[in-house]
Amino acid sequence: MTLIFAHRGAAGTYPENTMDAFIAAEKSNADGIELDVQLSKDGEIVVIHDETVNRTTNGKGFVKDYLLKDLQKLNASYQSKSLKTLFKAPHIPSLREVFEWMKTNNLLCNIELKTGKIEYPLIEEKVIQLIREYHYEERIIISSFNHYSIIHCYRLAPEVEIAPLYSDGLFMPWIYASSIHAKAIHPNYKIAPDDIITSAMEYGIQVRPYTVNKEKDINRLLKLSCSAIITDFPEEAIQLRNAYTK
Ligand code: G3P
Ligand code: CA
Repeated sequence: MTLIFAHRGAAGTYPENTMDAFIAAEKSNADGIELDVQLSKDGEIVVIHDETVNRTTNGKGFVKDYLLKDLQKLNASYQSKSLKTLFKAPHIPSLREVFEWMKTNNLLCNIELKTGKIEYPLIEEKVIQLIREYHYEERIIISSFNHYSIIHCYRLAPEVEIAPLYSDGLFMPWIYASSIHAKAIHPNYKIAPDDIITSAMEYGIQVRPYTVNKEKDINRLLKLSCSAIITDFPEEAIQLRNAYTK
């Protein structure tokens, strides 16, 4: 069965990477959530997509220049006018807050390390330490476009699954994945044709394309029994999966 991961939570209808979005994903019966992490000035792991707070909040500046307590005073619903109107000042969660909430459910969680632009000191160590503290080794997948970051995580904690993200053509990605001890690949769905998905899965590498929002694209992946899809609209994806498996 194709698992459904809610991208930045149910980001198509809720403020991305907020508790509202994650709770909505759980309510839609998604199998997992995807979220993005950066580090605050005081070295706390915070859940936000961009390196700055400019797009998604009412603040300005780099995440790395804010203390956690100040980041959490910002309103994290600013990515669209309609969300800003509908939601009353959701805050930027810490990863710890998300992990506390995960005690109340069985969701999987794909943590994307946003280490492509800014070098966050010890972010990999901090994420691994928190996963171990909560004993979530079986529930977490760590991904990143920065493959050095996920390889570093594997070296720190081989028991935690890693998966490379990529958005350009990669030749025989299943060979590359297994060479870095990844059990899955997370390609942009546009560069994941059927034969790549099938070959990877036959080789024993799971495939979780992102960000798959259109019905025809979701149906293509369901038809292939693709391992998982990452979507902004988990509720719709689950309805399509239900219809497909009837
Ligand atoms: O993890 C898949 C996807 O989230 C990667 O792209 O920019 O939405 O973080 P982005
Ligand atoms: Ca992401």
